[in-house]
Amino acid sequence: MKLVTCGLPYANGKAHIGHLRTYVPADVYVRYLRLMGQDVLFICGSDCHGTPIVVNAEKEGISPKELVDRYHEHFQKIFRELGIEFDFYGRTDAEYNHRRTQEIVKRLIENGYVYAKEIELAYCPKCDRFLPDRYVEGICPYCGAIARGDECDQGCGRHLEPGEIKEPKCKICGSKAEFRKQKHYFFKLTAFKDFLIDYLENKLQGTENALNYAKQWVKSELRDWCITRNLEWGVKFPGENLVVYVWVDAPIGYISFTEEACKRKGLDWKEIWLNGEISDITHFIGLDIVYHHCIFWPAMLKGAGYSLPKAVVASGMVKVEGKTFSKTRGYVVWVEDDYLKAGFNPDYLRYYIVNYTSHEKDLNFSWKVFRDKVNNEIIATLGNFIYRVLHFAWKNFGRIEGKVDPAVIDKIAEIKDKIVSAIYRWEFKEASDAFMELATFGNEFFQSSKPWDLVKEDRDRCMDVLASCIQIVKALVIFAYPVMPKTMSKLAEFLGLDIANTRLEDALKPIESIELSKPFLPFEKVDDKKIEEMERAMLERIRKAEEAESGKKEELIDIKEFAKLDIRIGKILKAERIKGSRKLMRLEVDVGNEVRQIVAGIAEVYKPEELVGKLVPVLVNIKPAKLMGVESKGMLLAADVNGKPVLLHPDREVPSGSKIK
Ligand code: 2FM
Ligand code: ZN
Repeated sequence: MKLVTCGLPYANGKAHIGHLRTYVPADVYVRYLRLMGQDVLFICGSDCHGTPIVVNAEKEGISPKELVDRYHEHFQKIFRELGIEFDFYGRTDAEYNHRRTQEIVKRLIENGYVYAKEIELAYCPKCDRFLPDRYVEGICPYCGAIARGDECDQGCGRHLEPGEIKEPKCKICGSKAEFRKQKHYFFKLTAFKDFLIDYLENKLQGTENALNYAKQWVKSELRDWCITRNLEWGVKFPGENLVVYVWVDAPIGYISFTEEACKRKGLDWKEIWLNGEISDITHFIGLDIVYHHCIFWPAMLKGAGYSLPKAVVASGMVKVEGKTFSKTRGYVVWVEDDYLKAGFNPDYLRYYIVNYTSHEKDLNFSWKVFRDKVNNEIIATLGNFIYRVLHFAWKNFGRIEGKVDPAVIDKIAEIKDKIVSAIYRWEFKEASDAFMELATFGNEFFQSSKPWDLVKEDRDRCMDVLASCIQIVKALVIFAYPVMPKTMSKLAEFLGLDIANTRLEDALKPIESIELSKPFLPFEKVDDKKIEEMERAMLERIRKAEEAESGKKEELIDIKEFAKLDIRIGKILKAERIKGSRKLMRLEVDVGNEVRQIVAGIAEVYKPEELVGKLVPVLVNIKPAKLMGVESKGMLLAADVNGKPVLLHPDREVPSGSKIK
């Protein structure tokens, strides 16, 4: 039994095209393997732990479980609609995964691969809590980019260990975090260096992108790995009030889901995960999680005495309309809202993902390219041939009985070999190009044989030509089924083919006789208007995101409009916090000819005593307002730095009331 897995999506947000880059090719792979007669178990599930889920649930005022339930359902629905058919789709917060994780952690402890150590961790004095992973933001110690606590996501991409981040700040309240000591547990990753070098150099198969990165890292930056976190939500670490890091229990999901899948099918999961050194396990992942799958994961498996994966297949990244994929900037295609709700055939997107480029390269999704691939390739080449042949044969004969041209069988055999070779190299584009090549061959065969003349001149010969063409149709249905299962299953049914029990070589078995009914158009054209609509919706989303980013629309004003603002330098005479408010401060400010009471949102950053005597710019002709019941006559101007105010002061002493122009 072969096991194929897909990286587990975080149950933390909706499915987008970036996700599909892993799941569609994996599903295509499994379907081809089954057509080759292989026994495959295909599993995946929701990744339910980790700080982003806790942070988002907190934001929404719901429990992490409620959030996870919602997205677990969502992903299952998306997979169903896109024809991504796992044998088992589990969740890492299920009892079976807690159990397996604790068992593996205990084994690692028993085997001497886990040790405790006091470390300095980011701690927010205001929130009175430790700040694991994404609760903290700061500066990457390696490249200086702004980074999250566990990953330099905007810079060099490195995994960051707890306590490594520089200048930490609390993501909840924005205040400066301090470092405090706490005991945590570490996995001795460094003890696996020699094992990993050998495993990566000599045993692990997969795409070059994954293997090359991993080989480079294992030699240069292996460090022991902190595997505990200060959270409630997660798998408990034995004997402590800590949970294991999400990247421990998530891949263990691959094992516990296999157990569940095997239980349901009456198979033995141990044959896969406890059968000696290397097992027939292939992990499909995105390029961003190569480190976790090629380094942490094999070391963990080795340390706990489990079998090791045979291959890691990493897809390239996704771009949208030529720009780096970004949910926040609007460069995203949401599978449900943007694609399925628009009514497009799911097979089109599957074909696009598989056929746009080779699996390891970056894929650009563009609506115009999508339209062209559907209309010019799927429809003009494949759909057109199938429909033309079936329609002509049905209309002129109904039943087809004829001799298939041996050259046609040879061509089908050649295409089949191309597909098999491509699939074993995870070159899904090559496999799909191969069946498109067969469709082109079919079109040429039909065209050059001129059946429309033969039907009048030589009906027997015409019948032979149509038998050859239907043979090609049958082969196309079988060969394209893994990529376009929805449409090809319908066509298989039309041809009386039991696709679930079909093999690739059945494409070579000559059709002896076939009774046709009226054929249907297998594909629907994508029209320009619809594509324009999709593009407009995307542009609108990008515009909104930009607007939200800059805080306002860029609008030019003239000097007259600026002159309407009466901004003066004021001197703060008195400052006190407003009771019941974290942010607001009541100030008395001398603005030249009078002393104004001003309420300013600066109490989180400044103390009253440090403000008295300071010179600050004040907008004095703003309409008075009441804040927390206190009247404010004027507005303090300050720089906004990540949502926090930083006051501005004149470069030298100036009289209160000095006008700013
Ligand atoms: O990066 C991610 O989206 C993770 N949820 C993938 C986990 S894969 C596995 F190891 F479980
Ligand atoms: Zn970095």
